[in-house]
Amino acid sequence: MAQTWTPNSWRQKPIQQVPDYPDLTALEAVEGRLAKFPPLVFAGEARRLKSALANVAEGRGFLLQGGDCAESFAEHGADTIRDFFRAFLQMAVVLTFGAQQPVVKVGRIAGQFAKPRSSGVEKQGDVTLPSYRGDIINGIEFTEQARVPNPERQIMAYRQSAATLNLLRAFAMGGYANLENVHQWMLGFVKDSPQAERYRKLADRISETMDFMKAIGITSENHPSLRETDFFTSHEALLLGFEQALTRVDSTSGDWYATSGHMIWIGDRTRQPDHAHVEYCRGIKNPLGLKCGPSLTADGLLELIDLLNPANEAGRLTLICRFGHDKVAEHLPRLIRAVEREGKKVVWSCDPMHGNTITLNNYKTRPFERILSEVESFFQIHRAEGSHPGGIHIEMTGNDVTECTGGARALSGDDLADRYHTHCDPRLNADQALELAFLLAERMKGGRDEKKMVVNA
Ligand code: PEP
Ligand code: CO
Repeated sequence: MAQTWTPNSWRQKPIQQVPDYPDLTALEAVEGRLAKFPPLVFAGEARRLKSALANVAEGRGFLLQGGDCAESFAEHGADTIRDFFRAFLQMAVVLTFGAQQPVVKVGRIAGQFAKPRSSGVEKQGDVTLPSYRGDIINGIEFTEQARVPNPERQIMAYRQSAATLNLLRAFAMGGYANLENVHQWMLGFVKDSPQAERYRKLADRISETMDFMKAIGITSENHPSLRETDFFTSHEALLLGFEQALTRVDSTSGDWYATSGHMIWIGDRTRQPDHAHVEYCRGIKNPLGLKCGPSLTADGLLELIDLLNPANEAGRLTLICRFGHDKVAEHLPRLIRAVEREGKKVVWSCDPMHGNTITLNNYKTRPFERILSEVESFFQIHRAEGSHPGGIHIEMTGNDVTECTGGARALSGDDLADRYHTHCDPRLNADQALELAFLLAERMKGGRDEKKMVVNA
């Protein structure tokens, strides 16, 4: 497969999950406009993320990746972005301080719009319509008109991504992420939750440490790393016409980069090695994610690794494993063994969401205990295999939603109807996300202490 790659070589390949645009001339016109728009991210930033991920691949650090299943036009606003960022920062600080490892922060945000669907149609009563495929493609309302793919939505998604990214950059670099604000990241509704006390204690310890450092002259004014943070964006590269339009040559290296986000990933439904999505991704230099579900064989994975990371560059490829709490023990070990045997450098990340979706009271939901159980198994299996459990990939929001059952507030099936807002899959609310972060920190710390014991033995 040493065929020449170009930003449009994917168009010669079979492809899954393509929307049925009724007006191809209008689609082409939109892609032409997008191709002239400024890039959303820069190649140098993608390279910085790749080198941070290279450390994770080598066992130093942890990838925290999360955000909406599907961003929506309706929920676009400063409060939603800020609350997400706060919840995310809280998780990151719990992981960094609790586990004492660098945390690489990557949002599923500023571009996470296109959705793969298991079925091309949705049935309600005796009406059958095309499925909703994400706001970048069609509308979620169950009407014939809304479900027609409209290329103008790509322009709206681009503009929303640019505005979202602008605010995120300001939060990350403009003082909001300053560790001196560690107490202020607590969201109102989390304050009276069982996680609040735990978080407050941790924040107190950080503040105390900061006071001590200040006393010896290390302050956020003279140490930017105390007041700024690196925050990166990611999304599933599903809508390839849009991705192609934002694929640009980096003038410093001469390489091609996706400029729609820092990291992009290939979904579990579009990872066929000879198909379009793998073809597109193999040619760009960004860090890539690859979703690994139960149907992926060890040989299939090795074939994909050779296509996507032929130079075996650490940080290039993150394997996002999403098997389900009851299947992870069957599938993860065989993949780890194959990858280790061949000496492939990857980041192992755990997506405990997509294999644990059930339907309850007509709502798609995910029991929190199954999410935790898959995470626990992920850590145990990596410890047993001697590989590094390098990251977590979750669907979460800073809003007080009721989409996943369980957690310390014990949300039940009957609570789902209260605040079920997701445009696609059920997300952890800020409370549940924080609870998960504490568990992760404990497991990461456990692993580190174990390693120390081995070294000292
Ligand atoms: C997703 O991440 O929202 C998704 C659709 O995942 P997967 O491709 O793993 O099913
Ligand atoms: Co999802």
